[in-house]
Amino acid sequence: MIRRRKQLIYLLGFMGVGKTTVGELLAQRLRWPFIDLDATIESGQGNTIRQIFEQAGEAFFRDIERAALIEASKTEPAVIALGGGTFVQPLNFEYIQEHGGMTVWLDCSLEELRRRCEGKDDRPLFRDPESFARLLEERLPYYRRAHFRISTESRDPEEVAEEILRLSLS
Ligand code: S3P
Repeated sequence: MIRRRKQLIYLLGFMGVGKTTVGELLAQRLRWPFIDLDATIESGQGNTIRQIFEQAGEAFFRDIERAALIEASKTEPAVIALGGGTFVQPLNFEYIQEHGGMTVWLDCSLEELRRRCEGKDDRPLFRDPESFARLLEERLPYYRRAHFRISTESRDPEEVAEEILRLSLS
């Protein structure tokens, strides 16, 4: 039996790397639906990610994030932008491997990520530069297990989306 490749693209990577921006552009090009996991969580809970973290804690957030991931993965075709921590939760990682689809790690330097996240208050896990760097370091072994790695450093999001588009068609 020939198994068709799933028409699902998961974009992963650290906060500030451009998953949402690139995901929207990519979905437009492919004419596929775009699902931003954080946005679906916020609209489902009627609360911002920061408020969910503050009021219910990270463990609760990870539970609803997992449920949102499973729900989003029922849509096919789709481009799904994960949150920065989604792919590094072992159960989510296993789920994505088993479910199928293409995984793309968007990557850029720590300095650039810091620059993009500093001064914004919508990311509860951006506390200080040191813990930000540590968290990235801890997550790299997971991110490296994606099918593809693409740099977003000093690059036009259109160009990044184009590169992923080519990969998805090859
Ligand atoms: C998180 C990243 C955020 C959001 C939540 C937790 C993380 O998503 O899911 O604040 O664990 O890195 P973005 O990567 O879209 O900022």
